[in-house]
Amino acid sequence: MKDPKRYLVTAALPYANGPLHIGHIAGAYLPADIYVRYLRLKGKDVAFICGSDEHGVPITLRSRKEGISPQKIVDKYHEINRKGFEDLGIEFDIYHRTSDPLHHQTASDFFRTLYEKGEFVEKEEEQFYDEAENQFLADRYIVGTCPHCNYDKAYGDQCEQCGASLSPKELIDPVSALSGNKPQLKRTRHWYLPLDKHQDEWLEQWIDSHSQDWKSNVYGQCKSWLNQRLHPRAVTRDLEWGVPVPVEGTEGKVLYVWFDAPIGYISATKAWAEQQGKDWEKYWKDEETSLIHFIGKDNIVFHCLIFPSMLKAHGGYILPDNVPANEFLNLEGDKLSTSRNWAVWINEFVEDFPDKIDTLRYTLAANFPEQKDNDFTWKDFQNRHNNELVAVLGNFVNRALVLTKKYFNKQVPEVTEWTDYDRDIIRRAAQIKEDLEDRIEHYKFREAVKLAMDIGRLGNKYLADTEPWSLYKEDPGRVATILNLSLQLAASISIVIEPFLPFTAERLRNFLNIGQLNWELAGKPDILKPGHEVKKPKHLFQKIEDQTVERQLEKLKEARRKKEQEEQGVEPAKENISFDDFSRLDIRVGQILEAEKVPKTKKLMKLTVDTGLDQRTVVAGIAEQFSPEQVRGKQVSIAVNLEPKKIKGIQSQGMILMAEDAQGNLTFLSPGTPTQKGAVVK
Ligand code: 2FM
Ligand code: ZN
Repeated sequence: MKDPKRYLVTAALPYANGPLHIGHIAGAYLPADIYVRYLRLKGKDVAFICGSDEHGVPITLRSRKEGISPQKIVDKYHEINRKGFEDLGIEFDIYHRTSDPLHHQTASDFFRTLYEKGEFVEKEEEQFYDEAENQFLADRYIVGTCPHCNYDKAYGDQCEQCGASLSPKELIDPVSALSGNKPQLKRTRHWYLPLDKHQDEWLEQWIDSHSQDWKSNVYGQCKSWLNQRLHPRAVTRDLEWGVPVPVEGTEGKVLYVWFDAPIGYISATKAWAEQQGKDWEKYWKDEETSLIHFIGKDNIVFHCLIFPSMLKAHGGYILPDNVPANEFLNLEGDKLSTSRNWAVWINEFVEDFPDKIDTLRYTLAANFPEQKDNDFTWKDFQNRHNNELVAVLGNFVNRALVLTKKYFNKQVPEVTEWTDYDRDIIRRAAQIKEDLEDRIEHYKFREAVKLAMDIGRLGNKYLADTEPWSLYKEDPGRVATILNLSLQLAASISIVIEPFLPFTAERLRNFLNIGQLNWELAGKPDILKPGHEVKKPKHLFQKIEDQTVERQLEKLKEARRKKEQEEQGVEPAKENISFDDFSRLDIRVGQILEAEKVPKTKKLMKLTVDTGLDQRTVVAGIAEQFSPEQVRGKQVSIAVNLEPKKIKGIQSQGMILMAEDAQGNLTFLSPGTPTQKGAVVK
């Protein structure tokens, strides 16, 4: 590996328009955290940067939907997501936000520099406009049919079904996401970053120079964009919410969210450096810094082609060394989806499993979609926990500690003499540590997490092969050596699992009565000194029972069912009532004898109903959908013991029961076959 002076590691700034789910975590944040924890263990100078992406159309759309200001929306989700990361042990050095004035200033200055250097192309052209809403329809403000896959809910900037990147004019039958109206075309002026020029002058060559060191999924996607040729890309929008374009006479225009968001990495670094009394420029402008962007695959084009072009156009900045993007994670064989509520939400996971954070980290790391999409299942979560964390890691550590307590009063015993077999174990532990480094440094975290567990497997095998419990009487010296080495392996484990399982590593350090150790000690046979006292043994993990994961599966399906019903306009269920409450209702079959519209109203009809008990007057809101002729003679269900109520001066004595669908269509609840008037409905 090259040995840069410092690292700047960024993780994609999540939109502050909703909570995070495990797909986000597996895509960018957990791999980044593992990598950074490893660098920190190696004593590297590293800044780990993230924050909320608080501009863009998804946020303004959410704010309209919830009826609160965009600032309130981002304030809410910034906090939820900041806490979500903290709960998962994802330890950024700073979690900044793009609505911060420092970011507005930084993004504004960046744009102005490019503007003044003549790095933009200025164009006037026709764009879609919603007359009713008085607004241009950029990005997600416009929806239509995808020209590539025919998905009918594609956005103006992207099709979420096939992943194609789109421009609004490519959509078939576009409509405004605001009013549902067909948009008009209207002239407007914008600034474009000439990516075609960058492609020819340096970008393609630079991407090619990374054909070997970048992941093949990342390099492949870049090449596919380049092969189709890059086009100038608009970096401004006619919107209210965002960083205002810092040029005279551009009121009502802001920077495109994908122009300002990656600059968010720079402003976050500035904020962090200021807090730490460091020089932010060293991290962005010194060739001896290694810049690594962790992202999901939908962000590849922005981080590998567009942001580098912005940095190059500006001048003075380094370019990323690597962009280790992951593919997507699925859940129980189905695409994770916010709109279909098919997700494991981080805030809910933390609430349900406060002591299983590392199990989630472990299961995700073991299933990272590194080269292709991969699946998370609750069964796998349970199996990995019970069969690997409990049975391998927990079991080994526990045996080593229990035996040390039993034979050596919790003190690390002195080595009598290493046997060849011991030396082989030591050599294998050192080899695992080396392999592990190699995998982490090549962003192969799935293999890495398996290797970290291999030290536990090695320890279990060592104890099973040497059987110290049956040797003590005849050869206590040998037992001392075996337990010394076992405890050294446990100490190595506490180091190598730290990037993956930080909470467990901390518990293990506590059991071993040690502080955090440097990475280089891992795999060594003399980490713990003889005589060092370890703590009373406890279990690292408790098993996960079948019911626990079955409940999660049920919860998942229930959430999706609710969402589907919501989409179909089915009203949510009301609270339960007692049987007594229900039986107090008196519902009968009645027959409509007379019907006439209530004058000067649209909806109301006055009915005379024979209830079997009496003939009474009822006013019903059915006149828009039924004529008096249609209802005369009909048998209906009528609630007869409601308090009478005056409606438009008419005393209404009861209520006709109707079914109403999501569109407001009414249907009478009539008996399937004619029955006696006054029959009780129950
Ligand atoms: O895809 C997303 O969630 C974006 N908000 C990522 C932005 S990354 C960076 F450029 F800020
Ligand atoms: Zn599509």
